Amino acid sequence: MEAPRVVARPTRREFLLGAGLLVASAHVGCSAPPEPAREDGWLFGPYQAGSTELDFDESSLTPVELPHCAPELSWWRWHPRDWDRVWVYRCHRPELPRGQREVVHFDGVLSAAEVFVNGQRVGGRVGGYLPFECELTDRLTRPDNVVAVVVDSRWGLDVPPDRPEPQKPWSIDFYQPGGLVRGVEFRRLPQVFCTELHAKPENVGGPDPRVTVTGKLDSGHLAGTFDVSAQLVDGAQVLAEGATRVRTAGDELAPFTITLQDLPEVQLWDLDSPKLYEVLVNTPGGQSRVRIGFRDLRFEVDGFYLNGRRVQLFGLNRHEWYPYVGAAMPDRVHRRDAQILKEELNCAMVRCSHYPQSEAFLDACDELGLLVWEEAPGWDYIGDQTWRDRVLRDVSGMVLRDRNHPSIIAWGTRLNETEDDVALYSKTRAIANELDGTRATTGAVNSSVVAQGPVVPTPFRDPFATTPLVQDVFAFNDYLVPPPGQLPTLREPRTDLPYMVSEAVGVLTGAKAFRRTSPVRVQADQGVLHAAVHDKAMSTPQYMGLLGWCAFDYPSGYGNAEDSIKWAGVCDFFREPKLGAGFYQSQTDPANRPVIVPAFYWGPDTGPMADAVIWSNCDRLEVRVNGVAVPPPRLDRDRFPHLRHPPFLVSLPAASGDLRIDGWVGQQLVASRRFSADPRQDELQLFTDDQDLEADGADATRAVVAVVDRYGARRGFAGGRVHWRVSGPATLVGDNPLDLGHNGGVGAVWLRTRRDRPGRIRLTAAHPALGSRSVTVTAH
Ligand code: GAL
Repeated sequence: MEAPRVVARPTRREFLLGAGLLVASAHVGCSAPPEPAREDGWLFGPYQAGSTELDFDESSLTPVELPHCAPELSWWRWHPRDWDRVWVYRCHRPELPRGQREVVHFDGVLSAAEVFVNGQRVGGRVGGYLPFECELTDRLTRPDNVVAVVVDSRWGLDVPPDRPEPQKPWSIDFYQPGGLVRGVEFRRLPQVFCTELHAKPENVGGPDPRVTVTGKLDSGHLAGTFDVSAQLVDGAQVLAEGATRVRTAGDELAPFTITLQDLPEVQLWDLDSPKLYEVLVNTPGGQSRVRIGFRDLRFEVDGFYLNGRRVQLFGLNRHEWYPYVGAAMPDRVHRRDAQILKEELNCAMVRCSHYPQSEAFLDACDELGLLVWEEAPGWDYIGDQTWRDRVLRDVSGMVLRDRNHPSIIAWGTRLNETEDDVALYSKTRAIANELDGTRATTGAVNSSVVAQGPVVPTPFRDPFATTPLVQDVFAFNDYLVPPPGQLPTLREPRTDLPYMVSEAVGVLTGAKAFRRTSPVRVQADQGVLHAAVHDKAMSTPQYMGLLGWCAFDYPSGYGNAEDSIKWAGVCDFFREPKLGAGFYQSQTDPANRPVIVPAFYWGPDTGPMADAVIWSNCDRLEVRVNGVAVPPPRLDRDRFPHLRHPPFLVSLPAASGDLRIDGWVGQQLVASRRFSADPRQDELQLFTDDQDLEADGADATRAVVAVVDRYGARRGFAGGRVHWRVSGPATLVGDNPLDLGHNGGVGAVWLRTRRDRPGRIRLTAAHPALGSRSVTVTAH
């Protein structure tokens, strides 16, 4: 079911601007000149015989906006039967004027798509997470044409990361509800344009820095010689230019190279100053642009070096699933995850486990200075030859799509927790090196590797015994379960290869679920466990760093999932921090943000507590209960000798009245927090992440609702069914009512705009005991 001729496509960052190119966007965040949106948009329904035909009766289909998740879901208790089926999406396209070219570009369809125009198949792809395109030229011949996409979201396709029947959807750790879960664009292409654009900074920090710009000229059927030029720009300023002439034979892509050299001094892309430049490529058909950053990466056995400075790879893993809609969130929402990781959890790095994630997320990582490990789809399984061929295709698709992102420092060319398949992984590694060659190749190895076929964990295999042939950086998922009462540690690093810990903690160590409804001791432990493994990872430079498992809870039916969620996140599925997030929140300079986060709730049932943990980056804390000072909290340097900001330990009497914690840096009071043990003055908190949205039918913002005390601190173990009311041009994405008790007093819904319906949106949350709260958002 591969496409007949999959056109080499500009990626999202490679839009052709100017003459000739029109993009009809069914999707937010498009940076190309928009063609007015069509009123009819996409129609959706279960697949039926004839539903790809031109004359199919569409009256049973429902209009939908993209991105779109096929099944309707709550935030929890998902079941694969809800998406284990085949669906159809239909869209009408006008006749294409003679001499013009049009393609339809899919950012990613879960899990397989076949595309038809007026009943004729034009292409498709088996496997989600990566883009593909179908040529529509010569197909849009009628005044009204129908593009129909058959989306197969059944389990058991022979494609990574899935595994064929008789394995079940819960034989893999994350659920993948299908649909047109990413954007779809109709792109009108000029006769001549540039594709597979790669602007590669070289010799960064060396004597002769340059940008090698490569691409392929697509001139359709036209043979000829064409001028191609490239510029490196910083805003309006042109820093370097180059040009070449390219001969095309027609019907073949013609490669070209332009070297941009004699650069003025450029500003490096770094964690605190992620400076981005643009490379513009001009062809007779228009202009393509990509964003780049100049940075020097080195992976050594004593660590990772960015621009010559050793950087500890402190971070977390991220899945891109959300409540209610799976992966089908607009760019803004994906971007927000990068912001949480970088600005709230202080991560230097994120691993996109276990598939290429939305381009919007990677764009945000570029802008924020968040390092990325990106990997090809896969999870604990290697399949048959067809399956392996698709791994090669995926690695190449991933590198082609994303090699211009400065944030990406490592390609996961070895699939998560799979065997040393030297034949397969030598090829994937060679593909990454050929198409890019500037990042390390890697892949997470686990203590129990899974053999081909049924899931059978084999006995622990010494990671030192695995071959160095298949990766540059050896990465280990280190879930060494500690003896009862002890903190987890890590295996000693390998010394023959750069070594990093790609996962640790999860829900394997200690508890089944780090849930706001779990005993508070368990919730408090989560941060301590993460702190312990990061501390160990900082004990010798031979650990390049550690990426904890994981940032956000995610949907799962595997292993120790509960209510179809893996409660392994330091933030919940709604992206709200749990007590365990306090560790990550506190690992920043107090000049940047002073932090005080107790790893307990202060309520009528609290305490007395000995050695309760408070996460803070202050030098010193002062604690008062009911106005009376308690013995000063002490820094826990004994257990965490390597952390920049170890936690404080404090002994507290049973809660009564207020708890007040003051944080000092030197002689200065830099932060003060108060908590009330009295729930009678509790309130309902309601806020959105954004005030302004685009009225495009896709854009959305999160609205968080929580029970808080009179000082705004989260009340532990709170409940109540929140009823929502929306007025104005928006759709509520979420449960109505939303029972806060299942998530321990916190929850969220998303407000999604309506296409071409600007205006003020008012959201009201009504709680049975705490009254109502409203927020207003504007769609423009
Ligand atoms: C790892 C795996 C992750 C996740 C984790 C469970 O072995 O790579 O995807 O399943 O275990 O907490």
